[in-house]
This record gives sequence, C-alpha cells and structure tokens, in this order.
Amino acid sequence: MFVVDDPLVVDGLVVRYGAKVAVDGLSFRLRPGEVYGLLGPNGAGKTSTIKAILGLVEPSSGSALVYGKRAKDDPVYVKSKIGAVLENPVLFDSLTPNEFFEFVASVRGVRDVDRIRALIEAFDLQTYMETPIAALSLGNKQKVAVVAALLHSPGLLILDEPFNGLDVRAVAIFKDILLKHIEKGGAVLFSTHIMEVAEKICTRVGIIHQGRMVDEGTVDELKQRIHGSSLEEILLKATQLEKDVAEALKGLG
Ligand SMILES: Nc1ncnc2c1ncn2[C@@H]1O[C@H](COP(=O)(O)OP(=O)(O)O)[C@@H](O)[C@H]1O
Ligand SMILES: [Mg+2]
Repeated sequence: MFVVDDPLVVDGLVVRYGAKVAVDGLSFRLRPGEVYGLLGPNGAGKTSTIKAILGLVEPSSGSALVYGKRAKDDPVYVKSKIGAVLENPVLFDSLTPNEFFEFVASVRGVRDVDRIRALIEAFDLQTYMETPIAALSLGNKQKVAVVAALLHSPGLLILDEPFNGLDVRAVAIFKDILLKHIEKGGAVLFSTHIMEVAEKICTRVGIIHQGRMVDEGTVDELKQRIHGSSLEEILLKATQLEKDVAEALKGLG
C-alpha cells in the first residue's frame, strides 16, 4: 500500500525546456525501505526528473511530493528531508573537506560529531581533511559530496549517477551505507548506468526512455517479463522496444 506521505510520490510529471519535452508524464513512487533505480540511456530524462523533485526546475504539469509536500510549497521542509548529490556536485573549491563539512553541519543544524567522524572514516577521507577541495581527485570530490549529503540523516537520499568516479572500495562502502539507510526506514532514489550496481542493490527499478516510464518492477520481474538475463540487456531491449513501437506508430501516420 502506498500512502500520500511516502518518501516520494511522482505523479504525471512533465518537464519542458522551451519546446523540448524532457520528462513526459512520469509517475512512480518510493516507499520507506526502498532503493529505487532510475535507469535509462543518456537524455532519457533522469536528471530532469531529479531536478524537478528537488525544486531546481519547475514542472510544467504533474507533481513530485517528498513526504507529502512539494519543494515549491515548502522548500525548507523538502530540503530537510532530502540528501542529494547531483551529477556535477557544486562544492566550495577553496574550502577543505573539514571546513566544508563544518559549514554544511552548521547550515543543517547537525551536532552529532560522532556521526560526522564515522562518515569521514567510512569514506576514507581522513587524510584529505585539510586539503583544498579543488586539489582532490574526482573520486574524493564525489566522496565529499556524498558525506555532505548524508550529514543531516535525511530520510530520502537522491543520487544522480552517484558511482561516477568512485573506486571499487568506495562503491562497496557506499552500498553498505545505502543498505543501512533503508534498514532504518529511509529510502533511496538514484540514477545510474552502471547496471551491475543497480542489479545488486535496487529493490525496484524503473526504466525510462524519452521521458516516459517504459517498464517498472523488481529486477527479477523485469528479467522474466523482458526475457533478459541482466539489467543491461533488459535496458537495451526495453528502450529498443519503445523505439520500435514509436516507429510503427509513425508509420500509421
Ligand atoms: N537545460 C536544458 N535545456 C534544454 N534541454 C535540456 C536541458 N537539460 C536537459 N535537456 C534535454 O532534456 C533531455 C533529458 O535530459 P536529462 O534529464 O539530462 O537526461 P538524463 O539525465 O537521463 O541523461 C535531453 O534531451 C537533454 O538534451
Ligand atoms: Mg543525467
């Protein structure tokens, strides 16, 4: 059963950039304890969907409710409920991770120093705490963004291509943290094209193509329905299927 104040309810979401329709009537929901993978090829509309949820772009119709509220109606509430890492996270390059976490913790009202220390250690950032963020590797910058997003213990974690630039060990730690997060009743939405990770940690996945939901379900359900042995194959088949249908409809005039 879904209820209205579930972590996320996306309903008929449409995002346009001028004449371009990036998200075309998308609907999906997340319950507490779910890790939902938004999968799709480049340009499918994943980032636009995430931006609309966060209130960074205005939907031209439909809505995204975070624990019952839209970002537009109550931005402070929605921001307190979400921890987000965008595709190209904006970090303060001249700050060190130490200063940056202090800043984020103060803005977020986080006083749990042990939690902050535990996250820093979990992501192996101890030796970089006094290095300006600008001088960090891509992987370490990504880790800093992830720790900053987790600092205030958000209920809903939203991660746009979170595994970019992370090494195998960081991905493993990340997965562990996500699983702990949902054990405590949190929820996770992420987009990725690294199918191996999606397959391992998603409770459900939604395949989007040209801004529309092509198929949705557990990985096992999709494997049976689409007759693919891996998520990668499913993604290819599902999006190809959509293209073929569109072509056929075009043929009908
Ligand atoms: N600011 C923008 N202005 C115009 N078109 C955009 C903008 N952002 C994204 N798009 C277009 O919208 C579509 C969806 O993009 P995006 O949401 O970034 O997809 P994904 O994250 O799945 O790769 C693409 O065709 C992209 O070119
Ligand atoms: Mg994207």
